[in-house]
Amino acid sequence: MKKEIAKYLKTDFIGKKIYYFDSLASTNIKAKEIAMEAKEGTVIIAEEQTSGRGRLGRSWISPKGKGIWMSIILKPEVQPAKVAKITLIGAAAVNQGLKDIKIKSSIKWPNDIIIEDKKVSGILTEMSCETNRINYVIMGIGINVNLSEKDLNVELKDKVISLKQVIGQDIDRNKLFASVLNHFEELYIPFKRNEDISETIDISRRESILKGKEIRIIKAGIEKTGKALDIDEEGQLIIEYEDGSIERVFSGEVSIRGIDSYI
Ligand code: BTN
Repeated sequence: MKKEIAKYLKTDFIGKKIYYFDSLASTNIKAKEIAMEAKEGTVIIAEEQTSGRGRLGRSWISPKGKGIWMSIILKPEVQPAKVAKITLIGAAAVNQGLKDIKIKSSIKWPNDIIIEDKKVSGILTEMSCETNRINYVIMGIGINVNLSEKDLNVELKDKVISLKQVIGQDIDRNKLFASVLNHFEELYIPFKRNEDISETIDISRRESILKGKEIRIIKAGIEKTGKALDIDEEGQLIIEYEDGSIERVFSGEVSIRGIDSYI
C-alpha cells in the first residue's frame, strides 16, 4: 500500500509518519507500544491482523490485503472525558471518506459505519491517561474493503459486509485510506484547538441510522429500550424511554429494532 498513499494524502500531521506491517496481532496493540514516544498523528497499518480486536472484547476479522486495519496515535490536550468525541470524529471521517469514493453509508452512533443494515467499518478507541491528563489516545479503525463472503464466517455473514460486496468490484485501499485520514484531520483540528466538533455533529446527524428508530441500549451492563431522538451538540445520543423520560448518553452499545428482534 505504502507509496501510493502519499499521492493522495493532504494532511499536515495525521499520517505524516506511517509504520507499515505485513502482519500484526493488532495495530492497536502495536500503537500502544510506541505511543509514548511517537508524534501525534503517527499511523500504524497492517496488511493483516492475527488477533484484531473489536469493542467489548470481540474479535475483528482482518484477512491479509483485504481491508484497512489501522491505528492513529493522538495526543489531544483535553479532559479524558472528552475522548468519546474523538470516536465520533473517526466515524464521520470514515463516512466522508466513503462518500469521496461515491459510496453511501450511515453512521450508527457512536462508532459503526453501516451499509445495507450491515457493518462495514468499526472503531475501537483506547486511551491511556492520568487523573486529568491524556497520555495518548489510540483510534483503531477497521474497514472491510475487499473481503468476499468466504472471508466471513456463518455468524458474521448476516451482520458484516465489505465494500466489494456492495459495489461488486475491488476497491483501491490507498485512495480510501488517504481520504479517511484527510477527513479525520480536517475534523480533528477544531476539536484539538477548542473542542469544536460542530462539523462532526452535522455529519453524525445527517448520516445517522439511529434517528427516529426504536433502539435498545446497553449501558454499564443495564439494558433499556427507547427511541433515538437525535444527537446533541456534545455528541450525546438523546433517547426517549418508554416512560417518557429523556436521557442523553455519551456512549453505549446500541441495537436497532428490526421486525422481530434487535439487530
Ligand atoms: C468494533 O466495531 O468493535 C471495533 C472494531 C475495530 C477494528 C480495528 S482494525 C484496526 C484496529 N486494531 C484492532 O485490533 N482493532 C481496530
